Amino acid sequence: MAEKTIGIIVGSLRKGSFNKKIANFLMGSAPEGYTLERIEIGDLALYNQDFDEGENPTSYAPFREKIKSLDGVIFITPEYNRSVPGVLKNAIDVGSRPYGQNAWQGKPTLVISSSISNLSGFGANHHLRQSLVFLDMPVLQQPEVYLANVQNLFDDSGNLTNEDTADFLRQVLDAYAKFVERYF
Ligand SMILES: Cc1cc2nc3c(=O)[nH]c(=O)nc-3n(C[C@H](O)[C@H](O)[C@H](O)COP(=O)(O)O)c2cc1C
Repeated sequence: MAEKTIGIIVGSLRKGSFNKKIANFLMGSAPEGYTLERIEIGDLALYNQDFDEGENPTSYAPFREKIKSLDGVIFITPEYNRSVPGVLKNAIDVGSRPYGQNAWQGKPTLVISSSISNLSGFGANHHLRQSLVFLDMPVLQQPEVYLANVQNLFDDSGNLTNEDTADFLRQVLDAYAKFVERYF
C-alpha cells in the first residue's frame, strides 16, 4: 500500500503552543505507512472574496495545492472565546474557495481540541465540525478527542509525558488510520 500523507493543521500560532506540542507528538507516533506533516497557516492573508475574481495573495495557491495533495487532514485546535481561532477559520475559508474548487472536499478528517481548563475545547471542536459538514469532509466520530488541562501533559522540553494521554492518542491515530483506509 502506498504511503499516505496526512496534513496537520494547528489552530494556534503561539511559539509555545500546547497544540503544536500535541502535533509534534502525533508526528512522532505516525502509524506504519503514514507520514504526518504540519501545514503552516500563519502566512495566509485574510481571505477576501474579491480575490476570487482577481489576483490572489501569493500564499494561497501553494496552500490550496498542498491541501489537495493530502490523503487526510488532522485539525488540532485550542478554543478561542468558545469557538475556533480566527487564524484557523481563515485557513478553512482560503482552502474552500473559489466556489466549486473546495480543496478540502472528501479528505478524511480527525478533530482534536484542547484547553488549559477542564472545558477541553468542546465549543471549538464542534464549531469546527459544523464547517466540515459543508466542506464535505468525512470526520472520525469515535473516539472524540478533547484534551483538558493540556498545560500539565508535557515536560520542560515540550515532550508529552502523560502516559495515559500518549496511549489514548496512539489509539486515536490507529482508529483514524483505519478510517482513512475506507476512502482508498
Ligand atoms: C483569545 C483567547 C480566547 C480564549 N478562549 C478560551 C475559551 O473560550 N475556552 C478555553 O477553554 N480557553 C480559552 N483560552 C485559553 C486557551 O485554552 C489557552 O490560551 C491555550 O493555551 C491556547 O492554546 P495554545 O497553547 O495551543 O496556544 C483563550 C485564549 C485566548 C488567547
